[in-house]
Amino acid sequence: MPGPAGVPQRKMTYFVPKSDNSNEQVRVPNVIALVGLPARGKTYISHKLCRYLNWIGIKTKAFNVGEYRRKACNLEEEGENEFFSPNNARGQKIRDEVAQLAINDMGKYLDNKEGEVAILDATNTTRDRRKLLMEFCKNLMHDPPFRVFFVESVCDDPDIINSNITEVKINSPDYKGIMSQEEAKEDFLKRIENYRMQYEPLDEDYDEELSYIKVINAGKSFYVHNVNGHVQSRVVYFLMNIHLLPRSIYLSRHGESEYNCIGRLGGDSPLSANGLLYAGKLREYFEAEDLDDFRVWSSQKIRAAQTASHLKDLAGHTEFWKCLDEIDAGICEGLTYEDFEARYPKQFAERDKDKYHYRYPSGESYEDLVARLEPVIMELERQSNVLVISHQAVLRCILAYFTNKNRDDLPYLKVPLHTTIKLTPKAYSCEVELFPFPIKAADTYREKPDQKQ
Ligand code: ADP
Ligand code: F6P
Ligand code: PEP
Repeated sequence: MPGPAGVPQRKMTYFVPKSDNSNEQVRVPNVIALVGLPARGKTYISHKLCRYLNWIGIKTKAFNVGEYRRKACNLEEEGENEFFSPNNARGQKIRDEVAQLAINDMGKYLDNKEGEVAILDATNTTRDRRKLLMEFCKNLMHDPPFRVFFVESVCDDPDIINSNITEVKINSPDYKGIMSQEEAKEDFLKRIENYRMQYEPLDEDYDEELSYIKVINAGKSFYVHNVNGHVQSRVVYFLMNIHLLPRSIYLSRHGESEYNCIGRLGGDSPLSANGLLYAGKLREYFEAEDLDDFRVWSSQKIRAAQTASHLKDLAGHTEFWKCLDEIDAGICEGLTYEDFEARYPKQFAERDKDKYHYRYPSGESYEDLVARLEPVIMELERQSNVLVISHQAVLRCILAYFTNKNRDDLPYLKVPLHTTIKLTPKAYSCEVELFPFPIKAADTYREKPDQKQ
């Protein structure tokens, strides 16, 4: 390994300790299989896990068995609760076939190395179905065989079930345009009862060999068993942090800074006169929002702290996080894009080629930002109403997490100055509202260059 200039190289002997699991591969394909009665949040959990794992860089895809069934069936004839009865042989046969189709597709996805994690979003309520899945995943035709983690959602809270049915299930494609919402609710309750007749929950003794987590009453308690490897431990960590209480997350860049006015990157300049105006208006906006348990998190840069100072007495807490500071542009700090291109043309072109992975010399990349922002995301998942006052690149990363944007699009998301972004989590997605304030500000957006030119 080369040493710093002028320092003589010492010959090194490396000793790599042998541990019991030294043969174990770290990056093994993982299957995450949901388990639970209908309306227990399985699809919600699948979507959220998929979004989180992709955002942290673990390529993941969810396979929803209900979608396979809808393709295979005429819903006018076979969408109602009788189809799911344990006494309906045709229904059982179709359900087994579509589950197998989803499992096969999942297998191809992992075998072809299209991704590292596949989520099987199905009820998987019988031991037979889980056994079939285990046998498929452990088959030696997969090289290496897949690790399986079951996520069982157990919920007997009638309020939660009722709200899941009335807010989500009656609008499902199983019912839309086929029956009224009242009929759909009645039918769905019967569907749950059909499933309950065959439901075999994961069992401490019977399923001793399996790896699983039971999420009980939407995260009031958990039972975690046999966690195996990095992906599974990340999944457990994530599931233990999310909650269902309604709330919004607000994102705002600091008010326009003096550096923004002259197009310079980074630095630590104070707000411009228009930036100060925005900070005042931001306060008025949050006075009108009148939120309970409102928190403000700001970066430690002067421009962000100045913006946050206007909200001090409105927020229960204002916290200043170093990890919310803007991307470190390294040798380009304080330059304009024009200076950057003129001084370091090769670097400039490299950044345009792959903005997500490009790391400024002595600075950071967007990929680095995502890694440093993971604690922020996890804490945002735990909190109620929070305003994050930060910077263009950092807020792109946070916005991409909530809106499920990929790595090509992430560094080009639009997060203009003097605009507040309100994010409100919904059943399977996140509502995004933009509130542009009528206060002039510099445009710091640089378009994605046309790669064909
Ligand atoms: P399923 O896929 O089990 O039929 P859905 O995911 O379609 O159910 O249900 C969506 C609703 O489940 C969402 O409105 C969400 O608030 C709720 N939910 C999310 N997680 C849980 C959980 N752990 N237990 C119960 N309900 C949940
Ligand atoms: O120009 C404002 C700014 O926040 C800079 O400090 C930062 O380097 C830049 O935006 C990030 O945006 P981009 O990644 O598009 O250059
Ligand atoms: C479904 O068909 O909607 C479904 C979830 O399938 P299964 O119960 O067979 O997993």
